[in-house]
Amino acid sequence: MWTWYKLLIFFYLTTEIWMEKQFVSRRGMNLQAYSTGNFTDLERTRFKRALYKGHYCRTRGCCEDRNDDCVTHFYEANAMCYCDKFCERENSDCCPDYKFFCQGDNLYQKGCLRDGRHYEEGSVIKENCNDCTCSDQQWRCSQQVCLVRPELIENINTRDYGWTAHNYSQFWGMTLEEGYKFRLGTLPPSPTLLSMNEITVTLPSKIDLPEFFISSYKWPGWTHDPLDQKNCAASWAFSTASVAADRIAIQSNGRYTANLSPQNLISCCVRNRHGCKGGSIDKAWWYLRKRGLVSHACYPLFKDQIFNNNGCDMASRSDGRGKRHATKPCPNNIEKSNRIYQCSPPYRVSSNETEIMKEIIQNGPVQAIMQVHEDFFHYKTGIYRHVNSIKDESEKYRNLRTHAVKLTGRYNAYLRQCESYVTWI
Ligand SMILES: *[C@@H]1O[C@H](CO)[C@@H](O)[C@H](O)[C@H]1NC(C)=O
Ligand SMILES: *[C@@H]1O[C@H](CO)[C@@H](O)[C@H](O)[C@H]1NC(C)=O
Ligand SMILES: *[C@@H]1O[C@H](CO)[C@@H](O)[C@H](O)[C@H]1NC(C)=O
Repeated sequence: MWTWYKLLIFFYLTTEIWMEKQFVSRRGMNLQAYSTGNFTDLERTRFKRALYKGHYCRTRGCCEDRNDDCVTHFYEANAMCYCDKFCERENSDCCPDYKFFCQGDNLYQKGCLRDGRHYEEGSVIKENCNDCTCSDQQWRCSQQVCLVRPELIENINTRDYGWTAHNYSQFWGMTLEEGYKFRLGTLPPSPTLLSMNEITVTLPSKIDLPEFFISSYKWPGWTHDPLDQKNCAASWAFSTASVAADRIAIQSNGRYTANLSPQNLISCCVRNRHGCKGGSIDKAWWYLRKRGLVSHACYPLFKDQIFNNNGCDMASRSDGRGKRHATKPCPNNIEKSNRIYQCSPPYRVSSNETEIMKEIIQNGPVQAIMQVHEDFFHYKTGIYRHVNSIKDESEKYRNLRTHAVKLTGRYNAYLRQCESYVTWI
């Protein structure tokens, strides 16, 4: 934007300066008179000429009536020329392409301007998530709701909602619908999941909730940073593998600290056979218990999920006592260890914030399912709370989807809140 302003100002200044010099004579002179100008700056002119050859009104755009700002450089003559209707008078000071471009019955008469550039009729440009087509000298844009909405970011960041919003460039150009479709990927909790009994943690009576708590400080090297799910709607797999990896490291007292492979789940968990098109966490936990996962190093994420047929590249057999062993090497040449990690059955924690904090402090990160509103895709820091859209377009956004995340716990007594470290968006 800044450069554009600078350009505008520059253009304005050159126009002003030139106007001052030529004010008296401007409208009375023949364009030919300008071509007797000084050509000592030949090199520069030649360069500009190459750039602008023949493009005056075509670049500048045409204007109605008399409009002294409707002027552009006529580099060949080292002068200025006009694209307003007034330039057609007897002593024409029109640009050479004025007749052809502004009057003529030709292709360029029509078209649209944008950021000082001319686009022909029928041109299509992208404006965030919308396509804009130049039709009858106007841009007509599709009216999709975009995933990134600058006005919403500004609204959130200029007010005190307790969290800050960010313009995520990887979301730019996507529609909200695409965000819901590709960036989440967990089914709403099933009745089985909801009917699980809640387990409450009893902390040793002496220990109160600390004033300050961060999982990675308590268990350095044992908790894992989130992996980027990109456009693979499999938060069911990413969150489950990550929580399981943290918990295995904590429970094994640091004996097994490998990150677990979400790709192993995505490609091999037949009960969640839609892979990158969503799945349920109870089926993911079932797989972790019964089949187990290899490490993320052993079975890394595919570069491009969409062009992958997602066949399962891992196989295992049971030793008869429930423990499984891989029967295939890792699907990459670097990692040799194809050890399989299995979990005990998952349990459900109460939704009470205090209970969640106690659980995390005692046993490690937990998994949560959340409903995602459109503003969540802008979340950067702070304690997230849904902020309603400014214009009451909320109907468009009612379409909530579910997402699974890992809560690593980041507790600050002053806020009296459990700030979730929300990751897989
Ligand atoms: C052309 O420019 C040179 C120096 O740049 C100057 O000496 C000369 O007088 C100029 N000629 C005309 C016709 O303006
Ligand atoms: C947001 O990011 C996109 C892509 O990086 C950029 O084109 C756009 O201008 C940014 N918008 C704002 C309001 O910063
Ligand atoms: C959450 O649990 C704590 C005790 O662990 C209790 O004091 C508090 O009232 C509960 N909050 C809600 C909203 O139920």
